Amino acid sequence: MKKVTLQQTYLSYAKLSDLPKSDQKLLKLARKSLKNSYSPYSNFKVGAALLLENGELVGGSNQENASYPLCLCAERVALAAADSMYNGVPVVAIAVTAKSASVKIKSPVSPCGACRQVMCETELKHKQTMRVILQGEKGEIIVFNTARDLLPFLFDGSLL
Ligand code: THU
Repeated sequence: MKKVTLQQTYLSYAKLSDLPKSDQKLLKLARKSLKNSYSPYSNFKVGAALLLENGELVGGSNQENASYPLCLCAERVALAAADSMYNGVPVVAIAVTAKSASVKIKSPVSPCGACRQVMCETELKHKQTMRVILQGEKGEIIVFNTARDLLPFLFDGSLL
């Protein structure tokens, strides 16, 4: 028997102005994208923004449906839009934020498992890691160097 330990690292910033300028800009776009959220069922708005290698910025927001399982997360909306508009262009960074009608979100929003899997697929597809920048409505901002750190034991399609 051998014991294997997995390790993840992230950077923690106390406030927006501590971040590099381009990350600040991306988080601001994620925040702006909240207004396009269609979330009448959860009243939980999520905004995502991508920086692509060609310098383009792409925003996305969660899009809900009365048939709940059809709800689309902001991260996957943005990632699908980016590959539809700029096919083959790697994603350098993704910023995600959220706003709830009922509580003030003071800790970084955490992408769901499905979005982590899709972020990892994007990294594998483009053979390039993306930085993942997460914040709630306010407070701490955390930055992962790769989506892989959010999903260490991903299903990567190597068996298919
Ligand atoms: N949601 C996202 O947009 N991203 C996530 O990573 C987690 C959840 C959305 C889906 C749904 O519209 C709402 O948040 C509540 O689950």
